Amino acid sequence: MNNISLPVYRSLSNVNENLKGSFHALPIQNIGKTTDVVLNEDFIVKLSKISKLELSLTSPFFDNLTEPTNAIDESMNILKDMYGSDLSLFVTCGSTISNKIIIEAVCKASDKVLCQKGVHQSIYFSLKSQNSDVDYVQDLVCNDDANIYSADTQGIIDSLIKAEKDGIPYSTLVINSQTYDGVCFDLQKFLPIVCEVAKGIKNIVIDEAWGAWSIFDSQMKEKSAIQNARQLSQKYGVNFIVTHSIHKSLFALRQASIISIFGSEECQNKIIGSHFRNHSTSPSYSILGSMELALNHACQYATLYSNRTNEQCKKLKSVINELSLFRCQQLTLNNQYLIPDPTKLWITCTTKLLSGVKIREILFNKYGIYISRYSHNSILINLHHGVSNELIYLLIDALCEIDKKYKIKNNSLNISVGDVASCFYILYPPGVPILTPGQTISNNVITKINQSIFDDTSLLIVEGN
Ligand SMILES: Cc1ncc(COP(=O)(O)O)c(C=O)c1O
Repeated sequence: MNNISLPVYRSLSNVNENLKGSFHALPIQNIGKTTDVVLNEDFIVKLSKISKLELSLTSPFFDNLTEPTNAIDESMNILKDMYGSDLSLFVTCGSTISNKIIIEAVCKASDKVLCQKGVHQSIYFSLKSQNSDVDYVQDLVCNDDANIYSADTQGIIDSLIKAEKDGIPYSTLVINSQTYDGVCFDLQKFLPIVCEVAKGIKNIVIDEAWGAWSIFDSQMKEKSAIQNARQLSQKYGVNFIVTHSIHKSLFALRQASIISIFGSEECQNKIIGSHFRNHSTSPSYSILGSMELALNHACQYATLYSNRTNEQCKKLKSVINELSLFRCQQLTLNNQYLIPDPTKLWITCTTKLLSGVKIREILFNKYGIYISRYSHNSILINLHHGVSNELIYLLIDALCEIDKKYKIKNNSLNISVGDVASCFYILYPPGVPILTPGQTISNNVITKINQSIFDDTSLLIVEGN
């Protein structure tokens, strides 16, 4: 084994060793890295034994995912009761496949579909392979700086009204209800309007992949897909089909996903058929077991997590807004049907010297903190359930240290554009003077000097002429 090259294993082991925590997804990734991630001992013990459940057994000794009659059936019923759905199906190959299952089940070639443009690729490709008659509603830019888009909610409503008036109503609407960037639909306001104006609509497909946490959260529950689908399905005779990626926000293994259906038996049967056709024939039982654990845990600790996230968000804002280099930004959404995600925080850099990519690099390489989304001048913090208070303090310390370094260097240099240099200013490496005595200081030189603060370059200031 010693002589065999294991590039993937080696690379993952290396990064894992340095990783203190992630502000991206997959809360289980943070367990054991910092203290105080999960607060239930029983949960940790059970999760630590989950890899032993990687078994390949079916009925009658265990159960069968596609025709469950035993433990899986029992677990699905618990979930059904928890969500108030008519049917909830487990998927162990991700929401990518869940979306494919749903689209194949409810969108046929003859169907007229209205789809938000900013949906996941799995929805595009599935709609394409179904040959459905799709109209996309382009998303709108809601923050130019970080290139953040939001759904054009009014555009969707107008398209539905027009199609009804023209006598060719849409039968299916597809939306992405919570984007990774932090834009959420207020489904409590949006869905009743849709059901009122689009009398011909049969199915509303809601990809809430990033929002599995929201039905458990006191602030978001009323606006979540599960809560509103439950209330509206029978009232309007519409099928609601909701996708959740459990591993993205709760403590489950990848690729744990759930499809929940609120609607007719016909719709349920179509989804069951498509689930059978599209799911891997080797479902992962460890993932199934971890999903059950994660949902149970979320139920028990939801209030604690949402209170903690609020506190963490407040703490980050108050400390970061006192620094000179960074600002915490709350998304502003001037739209009655959209709300900012309370678990997402954008940190923007006030100097052009430090780009989002650079902050991300420094945070990972120097502090073991992983950030996924960034823009030219900002980074996105996702305060998922796996973010401990200790990790928040590591991030705060890192940003304070970068800020301090910047201030000290800047003050000690104490030069500005237009001054005349009295020394040599040499960046090493490579050891080439960027300023020589007598030279007038330009903006370009200041940029290079400041950049050296964040790069692995030293700035030598040498007297002489
Ligand atoms: C909105 C949305 N839907 C679906 C998916 C696919 O999820 P999974 O990674 O579980 O396949 C993603 C992935 O990031 C997503 O952002």
